[in-house]
Formats: sequence, C-alpha cells, structure tokens
Amino acid sequence: MKADKWAPIGVFDSGVGGLTVVREIMRNLPNERIVYFGDTARVPYGSKSRDTVIRYSRQIVRFLQTQQVKAIVIACNTASALALETIEQEIDLPILGVVKPGAQMAVETTRNKRVGVIATESTIQSGLYQKLITQADSEITVYGKPCPLFVPLVEEGWTKDPITEEVARRYLAEILDKKIDTLIMGCTHYPLLRSLLRGVVGEEVTLVNPAYETSQALRRMLLELNLANPGGVDTGQQKYRFFASDGVERFNSFAHSVLPEQISDTRQIQIEEF
Ligand code: DGL
Repeated sequence: MKADKWAPIGVFDSGVGGLTVVREIMRNLPNERIVYFGDTARVPYGSKSRDTVIRYSRQIVRFLQTQQVKAIVIACNTASALALETIEQEIDLPILGVVKPGAQMAVETTRNKRVGVIATESTIQSGLYQKLITQADSEITVYGKPCPLFVPLVEEGWTKDPITEEVARRYLAEILDKKIDTLIMGCTHYPLLRSLLRGVVGEEVTLVNPAYETSQALRRMLLELNLANPGGVDTGQQKYRFFASDGVERFNSFAHSVLPEQISDTRQIQIEEF
C-alpha cells in the first residue's frame, strides 16, 4: 500500500489507557494526525488469552485500515505483548508496539542490571519484556509483577489517593527487595501514577515510560520510511479523531483528564463488524 505523509497514524488500545500514548505523540510529533480507537466495550485485555487479544486486534487493525492510516501504533502493552508479532506478518503497513521501545530504554538505563516490570497479568505472563531485555543483555535480571488493581484505580481518578499508594507499596515490595534500579511502567495507565510511584520507589529508581519511548520510536520509524508529516497541508479532516466501541461519554471525560485539549466528538463503532 502506498501511504502518503499527510495520512494519520492509527493508534489503538483496549480502552482509554492508550490516550497516554496519544498524549506523547501529540507532544513529541505535533505535525502528525491521529485516528484513535479504544475498545471500551471489551476492556480489559490484561486478563484475556492470546487468541482473544489477537482476534480483537485484527478487527481493530481492519477498522484502522478503513481510515487510510499510514502506520499503526499498538498503544496497549497487553496487545503489543500478545498480538503484535502475529499482526505484523499479516499487514503491509508499518506497525509498532509499546513493549519494545520500553524494553530498549530499560536496557540503556539500568546500571546494576536489575530491572522491574509492572504490567497486566497477561503482559507479565507473555514474558515479552523479560525476553527482549535479556536478549539485548543477558546479564540483566528482570523481575515482573502484575498490578491488576492499578487500572480500575486510575480510571476511578484515584491517582494520588492513599489507598492507591498502599496498593502500590504492597505490589512493589517484592521487586524493590530485589534492589532494582529501573522500573518499567508496562501498562498504559501506569504513567498516570508516575508521581505516586516515584514516592513509593524513591529517587534511586528510574521510571521508564513506554508511552514516551514509543513516540520516539515512532518518530525514528517515520523518518526512516520517509513518512513523517511535514505539516502545512489542509487535508480537510480533523487532526485528531477518536472512536470507541462503547461509552463515549465516559471516554470523553477520561480523555479530558489526560489530553491537552477537550474531546467531545468521539464516535461509537461496532468493532465486531470489521
Ligand atoms: N491497555 C492495557 C495495557 O496496557 C491495560 C488495560 C487492559 O487490561 O486492557 O496493558
């Protein structure tokens, strides 16, 4: 497929969490247009099987292709861990997940070669963060910890709440005991807990944000493929377009808490039709 530089980037996630990746793309690649899909009807992916996540991701990719995107970013850590490898063999569009950029940054960051990863159950079980890091440097030991309660706590808006802090202390005690110096926030929602996590892990541990690293990887990929949007052309379409499979009101209000601009025209689509 011949894509043009002014075409949008397709970004998808299991729900609203991927907006942390959208935020980084907006900040760091301000010329790029975005079509976002959040699978709010079928969230969470983090406790689902590989087959299910692949099936859902295929439908979403087919939808994004109808929007003439020039590249796809899987903003969801779980879908990146479970489905990217399969999907990238099936389509002829450039596609990027969030796991690899996050893993690469952790390899570059760690000094004592002890890295922690917090993520959903399915992401930790997939072992992909662990695999990519140890492939890059076999001396690094990776300690994974699923933190399933963080997603609902963030969606409840409790990002600075003492209850969330207590939950974080319990989850992290085990991996902090391992003396990690680097912690990957391996789930879309966790960057929204950055300041709370900082308080729990202390100043000595570097927090890696895969959402930010992915925006940088996307920039490199677009430049390499000569697909970076130089700006300056009115395509007649809104720069940022949002779609969800359910609950657009709730989607809009969460988006308002994450993105620099107000979103009010999210459209609901029947993703099973794709
Ligand atoms: N977006 C998911 C992730 O980054 C978290 C929410 C879910 O479980 O679907 O892994």
